[in-house]
Amino acid sequence: DWTMAAFREGAIQRIREQVGAERVICGLSGGVDSAVAAKLIHEAIGDQLTCVFVDTGLLRSGEAEQVVELFRDSFNIPLVHVEAGPLFLDKLAGVDDPERKRKIIGGTFIDVFEAEAKKIGGAAFLAQGTLYPDVIESVSFTGGPSVTIKSHHNVGGLPERMNMKLVEPLRELFKDEVRDLGRELGLPDGFVGRHPFPGPGLAIRVLGAVAEDRLAVLRKADRIYLEEIRKAGLYDAIWQAFAVLLPVRSVGVMGDGRTYDNVCALRAVTSTDGMTADSYPFDHGFLSHVAHRIINEVKGINRVTYDVTSKPPGTIEWE
Ligand code: XMP
Repeated sequence: DWTMAAFREGAIQRIREQVGAERVICGLSGGVDSAVAAKLIHEAIGDQLTCVFVDTGLLRSGEAEQVVELFRDSFNIPLVHVEAGPLFLDKLAGVDDPERKRKIIGGTFIDVFEAEAKKIGGAAFLAQGTLYPDVIESVSFTGGPSVTIKSHHNVGGLPERMNMKLVEPLRELFKDEVRDLGRELGLPDGFVGRHPFPGPGLAIRVLGAVAEDRLAVLRKADRIYLEEIRKAGLYDAIWQAFAVLLPVRSVGVMGDGRTYDNVCALRAVTSTDGMTADSYPFDHGFLSHVAHRIINEVKGINRVTYDVTSKPPGTIEWE
């Protein structure tokens, strides 16, 4: 019968057979999937694996440090940390169309990744933490097979362009299975249980043009929201929760003054695979508490709304 321990053993064998004595490069995104793929591949082939973490500067506060700490320091897995934040911001300057943003981020990611891979030299394989739902969604979607809803940058043309073969040991797994496998492999619970985070990062949660000051405002609001969700013991009951900075301003009143500032939307959904989702039914008191904190603590936001849209017809991310 099927157990995660048996899957792990089988996957390790398959990776060894596929890769032989060749070298493998694995891109770490900061998320659970690529981390589990990397740890599994490292168990299979040890130091034939090099991990590359392209830090887009579009992560949440503290995330990049966590990845580096876990891989380089705790697991002793060779890791190249590329700090490419300024480059990404430069390429994104003035761009407000969601698909263009996604394409720019995907393209820039490939350029940076390819340059690092060349420096490492001689790897025949590229490893990716592609899951079963990624395979399905990149082929067809509820909108029909010829409609691209969103260009996901982690299932793009990277391997062909780099003339590398793919290693995708998680291709048959759903998210909850990847989490089980992660625990089986000894990744810390706090890391394995983390909500999914999209490759394009906060760039698709700052609606409209992305700039460092807007990213900073969003990071603060998002941190408060997640802090309150954890404090209320709701983190594990939610598939994904995050703040979105809207490209509109509204009028408010603070003390005896008028404000004219940004609007922040809060999103939280339940889901089993990210393909369909429902908005999470928070208590009203919880939401007003979070809104109160954000407006009081984050300069630049004077109004907070909660998104009650399900998927479909909405998507989980706003862009
Ligand atoms: P949507 O917004 O399409 O998101 O309902 C479904 C799930 O996918 C995540 N997502 C991405 N993940 N690269 C990723 O690795 C991407 O480009 C990307 N876009 C969306 C999203 O956060 C949700 O979990």
